[in-house]
Amino acid sequence: MSVETAAALSATETQRRIDDFGAWFQNLNLNGVQTAPNHFLGDYPAVKFAGFAHALPEDLTGKSVLDIGCNAGFYSLEMKRRGAERVLGVDFDERYLAQARFAAEVRGVDIEFRQLSVYDVGTLGEKFDLVIFMGVLYHLRHPLLALDLVREHVAKDLMLFQSMQRGSTDAMKVETDYDFWQTEMFSRPDFPMMYFIEHKYAGDPTNWWIPNRACTEAMLRSAGFEIIAHPEDEVFVCRVKDTDADTDVARATKQAKESLQVA
Ligand SMILES: C[S@@+](CC[C@H](N)C(=O)[O-])C[C@H]1O[C@@H](n2cnc3c(N)ncnc32)[C@H](O)[C@@H]1O
Repeated sequence: MSVETAAALSATETQRRIDDFGAWFQNLNLNGVQTAPNHFLGDYPAVKFAGFAHALPEDLTGKSVLDIGCNAGFYSLEMKRRGAERVLGVDFDERYLAQARFAAEVRGVDIEFRQLSVYDVGTLGEKFDLVIFMGVLYHLRHPLLALDLVREHVAKDLMLFQSMQRGSTDAMKVETDYDFWQTEMFSRPDFPMMYFIEHKYAGDPTNWWIPNRACTEAMLRSAGFEIIAHPEDEVFVCRVKDTDADTDVARATKQAKESLQVA
């Protein structure tokens, strides 16, 4: 279908096409028709985006963007609207990618959507000025591996990150080391911790790990990101940090990554 044709569809025909794609997670307005009007979080992700849109550069002219777990392309479309030259959206679910391609056709914008798991971002062989990694971490059985891969292979400068979080919203200042007999911090709710979901959470068997805020921040730092803004509870704007100085922690991190062939 050509760009003109999709944009010119009547509301009835647009609704029929939307229905053909199956259930939508993201609520987009396509030719005046809402794709997920009954989302349990409201007009999602627009309501979410309203809380942190200001924390991203308004002008992305000439920039490249990788949207990992792009779903129906809400953030890809927004970044294109901000002038990004190249936007690549990846998701491992072909059904969502079909929705995203249709949405881009209706909006008349040139965005590439490709089927790819976050674990395979190394195959892209390209780094991006802005990586969007929103709402994916807790769906992964191996979340830190994914963050390491993103940092190593595709993040050039900024990363927009979001995770569902549970537990304390405070983050204690972690020490650089603890004595073997020191254990009281493990009982503190603001110590970094991640809850493992063996079965389901919110009826969803793909929710595997849910960090508290301290854990989100610690994992981002450990993967090599500096948090430069925290505009909303679950959202972090990060900048790629130069590899740590030659410390024993940096060496251990490097060795761990090499053993998984991340680095
Ligand atoms: C909760 S939705 C978030 C969508 C969007 N990023 C947002 O914030 O609105 C999670 C998305 O991540 C995708 N996803 C889950 N695991 C993935 C993986 N291993 N690689 C790529 N995408 C994945 C799902 O298909 C889904 O589209």
